[in-house]
Amino acid sequence: MIICTTIVELKAALARQRSKSPNGFVGLVPTMGYLHEGHASLMQRAGSECEFTVVSVFVNPLQFGPNEDFDKYPRDLERDAALAEKNGVALLFVPSVKEMYPTKPLTRVLISEVTDSLCGASRPGHFDGVGTVVSKLFNLVQPDRAYFGMKDAQQVAVVQQMVHDLNMPVDIIPCETVREPDGLAMSSRNVYLEPGQRKQALILSRTLNQAGELLHKPDMTAGKLLDAAKATIQSAPLAIIDYVELLHYPSLQPIEPDRRLAELNDKLILALAVKFGGTRLIDNRLFQTA
Ligand code: PAJ
Repeated sequence: MIICTTIVELKAALARQRSKSPNGFVGLVPTMGYLHEGHASLMQRAGSECEFTVVSVFVNPLQFGPNEDFDKYPRDLERDAALAEKNGVALLFVPSVKEMYPTKPLTRVLISEVTDSLCGASRPGHFDGVGTVVSKLFNLVQPDRAYFGMKDAQQVAVVQQMVHDLNMPVDIIPCETVREPDGLAMSSRNVYLEPGQRKQALILSRTLNQAGELLHKPDMTAGKLLDAAKATIQSAPLAIIDYVELLHYPSLQPIEPDRRLAELNDKLILALAVKFGGTRLIDNRLFQTA
């Protein structure tokens, strides 16, 4: 595996690969590092569909709010490199902030509407930072395919919208959420959880499973489903709800609270953001209503 820290090295390695194999697909897995099995699943999928897999590890300051965890975001390059190598990655791109933003960036990629709700609402500016850095990575690597996890379902919708609107020549491949054996969605931020919080964090996946059962009741409405989900989360004393929302997916448009779900023939998302102390966890589940 090649490890590049500069754009010059990255481009040289990609040029070598493309001259060796002009028709081989290049796959990109953008990450912020502190890699886990969720990231590994994207690498494996890329490896099964592409000849050359690039993983970027870059904690992007542009997508963190002023009171968020940019400085203390977990970092461990040695471990990341070992995990990437084990999962067949050909090139690990690990630029510094100076390399990605050598001068103050005056340009942003702003995606509207799909960013109005969920993390877009509770983390103002977050998706401007994501859209901007993902565009830069697409321009640098020029991948045929890019792999994103449905753990961040709104991010998938936002990136798909951006690629569609701007005719970016890349296929976005959404990949399933990977969970710990007890159901907790894997996340680099899980390391922040204290043992008591870690136990109670299971309330997210339990709530999503419970919603999967309630959804099929004939008189179930969006409002009733949300009330049940909120009550379940609040049964965990350490859980502080940031948001619990049921929306159409991928448009992320709202559903009227009295609307009977059985009358909708659409894909819906139940999305949760819950804080345990200073740690904010997100999870979601997609449902196809009859
Ligand atoms: P990061 O949180 O490191 O996640 C990188 C990719 O891994 C994202 O596509 C995310 O959805 C996916 N991922 C994380 N946990 C997962 C899990 N449990 N199962 C499956 N996939 C999972 O998302 C970002 O970084 C950044 O916003 C980024 C896209 C790199 C832009 O900076």
